[in-house]
Amino acid sequence: PLAVETAQAETRRFEALGLTRRPRRNRKAEWSRRLVREYGLSVDDLIWPLFVIEGQGRREPIASMPGVERLSVDEIVREAERAARLGIPAISFFPYTEPSLRDPTGSESLNRENLVCRAVRAVKRAVPEIGVMTDVALDPYTSHGHDGLLSDGAILNDETVALLVEQSLIQAEAGSDIIAPSDMMDGRVGAIRVGLDRAGFRDVQIMAYAAKYASAFYGPFRDAIGTSAALVGDKRTYQMDPGNSAEALREVALDIEEGADSVMVKPGLPYLDIIRRVKDEFGVPTFAYQVSGEYAMIEAAARNGWLDGDRAMVESLLAFKRAGADGVLTYYAPRVAERLRGAV
Ligand code: PBG
Repeated sequence: PLAVETAQAETRRFEALGLTRRPRRNRKAEWSRRLVREYGLSVDDLIWPLFVIEGQGRREPIASMPGVERLSVDEIVREAERAARLGIPAISFFPYTEPSLRDPTGSESLNRENLVCRAVRAVKRAVPEIGVMTDVALDPYTSHGHDGLLSDGAILNDETVALLVEQSLIQAEAGSDIIAPSDMMDGRVGAIRVGLDRAGFRDVQIMAYAAKYASAFYGPFRDAIGTSAALVGDKRTYQMDPGNSAEALREVALDIEEGADSVMVKPGLPYLDIIRRVKDEFGVPTFAYQVSGEYAMIEAAARNGWLDGDRAMVESLLAFKRAGADGVLTYYAPRVAERLRGAV
């Protein structure tokens, strides 16, 4: 009798709720969740950043980015082949420049035989079908670790832009498909576009690091390319203030006007609101960079057993799609691509 009374009481409670709408109905089984899912992650969304180092057959772990290594050019080619097999559309290169080659003006950035140019040529020869993106900025090459020329503690904008145009040209000559200026100097996208066109590289794309914030989340990357010890001061006179949102739209508007084919917001997860605003406002191809510190946070927690690394990886990447990004630069690219083969 007691059970009957309880059941009757339950029924009355349901009636009291009077629900005709029950959102949980759509969530009741996997087949249904799949049918109503609004956003999905695909291998087509991925760009894989790789770190290049001198040597042969060399793979060097990066302490603050567990699971990521610096690779010599021959190893880069192997990974490019793997990326192509996995269906990853594009890869991107960042060099660890030998300290002896770093100087105040970053002159190694203009060496046609530098690590990045050699990696681009080798990959384009071995895996011509994969898109190759190269970063344009001086920081991997300067002794002070800044993205531009430094004079009396100030970063010189226009003088830096002239060098960035030269750097873009030698990267395009090496075979880069996408020039990606990450320096945040004013006017560099327009100058690079004119430079590329004049030199006959009309089909080389520009992906602008358009809204790039002065962020603590780049720490592990600076370890990876060996600039953290060297960096004098910070980058707040050229990278954006994390307190700003409307400014990101102005930066993106300028880069589009100057000829950017696609724009990027960086870092990713802490700036999902910016991705959404940019995509809604401009509707251009919009990318997010899930930066080194974001990767390191997830990996640190996962390796401590504090969260499920695979699930956190997929969930964080899906967040970019939901925010409106067309694609993501992520160190997880090969790992998530492997998983996507089995469907997330
Ligand atoms: C510098 C550059 C940075 C990154 C890409 N290009 C770091 C910085 O601005 O200091 C960061 C990428 C990452 O953290 O994964 N031109």
